[in-house]
Amino acid sequence: MRVALIQSEPAFGEPERNLAALRGAIASLEADFYVLPELCLSGYDFEDRAELARFAEEPGGPLAAALAEAALGRGAGISFGFAEAVPGGRLFNSALLALPGGPRRVYRKTHLFAREKLLFEPGDTGFFVEEFRGLKVGPAICFDWIFPEAFRTLALLGADLVAHSANLVLPYCQRAGFARAVENRVYVATANRTGREERGGRSLSFTGGSVLVSPQGGYLLELPADRPAVAVAEVDPALAREKRINAWNDVLADRRPGFYL
Ligand code: ACM
Repeated sequence: MRVALIQSEPAFGEPERNLAALRGAIASLEADFYVLPELCLSGYDFEDRAELARFAEEPGGPLAAALAEAALGRGAGISFGFAEAVPGGRLFNSALLALPGGPRRVYRKTHLFAREKLLFEPGDTGFFVEEFRGLKVGPAICFDWIFPEAFRTLALLGADLVAHSANLVLPYCQRAGFARAVENRVYVATANRTGREERGGRSLSFTGGSVLVSPQGGYLLELPADRPAVAVAEVDPALAREKRINAWNDVLADRRPGFYL
């Protein structure tokens, strides 16, 4: 099972151009499943909800559908972040998980970061897992990583791979992926973006460095910090299903939820 990381540098407010670049990146390497960054069609730092609404679309909208098709048309699955508009005006920071011949499901970001709280509704889907070619995939979006409960919930739901779409601006997540992977014995695929956005007097630098971490904490893929890149690696669901770390300990079965808040 080959999992690809697509690390891109979206141009803010130029979704057609971003779509073309992402399609080219997908076409450049063979994989069974592609993980793309958060808000990868639109860019990130919207001025206000009115501006966000201009770039948001329903999961079946033309740009999101075309990006899904870029993978589905190759017989592969995909998870990518997009700005979701819901009839009635609500806006979510979402990921679309699309599988060949299977479901298209939307995950809405549970933990909003910084100014996102002014723009998006907090996600209301909760976490879920879907299976494709023997691999159970669960989506998560960027700042979700800092809440261990998020990836733990995906592991408890049976995820073998967390498809983590990111627009990281803090320097921690790529290293923290080691802990998220090892404590849950899952693969963590963080597809991050690069580049800068200068908007409304604000300046954001995105940290790139997308990673694929194995259930044993091995860094199977590490992309550069400062430019778009793609890479693919083989993952083995059986390694993620082995939750025992020795003859005595199992990272899920040994939990003591009665003592946790
Ligand atoms: C983030 O959640 N985009 C940092």
